Amino acid sequence: MTNTIILIGFMGAGKTTVGQQLAKETKQQFLDLDDEFVKETGTSIKSFMADNGEKAFRTMETKVLEDRLQNSGVISTGGGIVESDINREIIAKSDATVIFLQADLATVISRLATDTERPLLRQLSMKQLMDRWALREPLYSSLADSTIQTNGKRPEKIVQEVIKLFSPDNALVSLRSEIDSLDHQIVNLISERLTVVKEIADVKKDTGLSVVQHGRMDQMRSELKKEFRDDENVSDRLIDEIVDLLTSTSINHENKMFG
Ligand code: S3P
Repeated sequence: MTNTIILIGFMGAGKTTVGQQLAKETKQQFLDLDDEFVKETGTSIKSFMADNGEKAFRTMETKVLEDRLQNSGVISTGGGIVESDINREIIAKSDATVIFLQADLATVISRLATDTERPLLRQLSMKQLMDRWALREPLYSSLADSTIQTNGKRPEKIVQEVIKLFSPDNALVSLRSEIDSLDHQIVNLISERLTVVKEIADVKKDTGLSVVQHGRMDQMRSELKKEFRDDENVSDRLIDEIVDLLTSTSINHENKMFG
């Protein structure tokens, strides 16, 4: 394993733990940018943010990133590093391999439930945290050379997956990791869809509309078929199957709500 590895991902995704173990295993230097920030400023992130605010933290974070990237080895980053265009540019321009450690929001929240050192976790409401999540997830994905799903995995397993990315059979490992990540995103989207379904059911309840509007569903189906007409992966039959699955799930959901 040669060049620098940068680990990115949301708070609590395991960047520091995995980074430490990975560096040990591969006999490389390990740097945690949050720790480097503390060394650089002589103050904890919590009190730095309390005194100077998040914007000042981000500016300083960029300086630390730029400086520490002069080193090689394993570098774990703070969860918000991707929010700044400059940081993303610095990381993308470096010749480091960027690995996104992806975990579900629910997993992250439960892992950090008792954390008192992460200021943002304390300051943000659940809605704000979810907004941050939604903002960052696509940024992590687009910056990463590889994504590793970390839910329910022990750090040792994740470390082995990272190491495998650099071994000759890495193509399969990397593709599998990518497909796992897509599956997670699909299930997350379905869950989000069901939340909207609940809201629709409430409106229907209030306005006396019936649960199913067949015309609307047929229209949706044909719009999708039109949109994916030229996509050889997506046949009309597949769209029918997906729409059947989505609508039957939501109709069951709505019916339950109507009682
Ligand atoms: C932050 C995450 C923290 C730390 C700071 C801000 C964020 O790092 O950089 O509290 O914006 O998500 P971890 O991802 O290591 O918790």
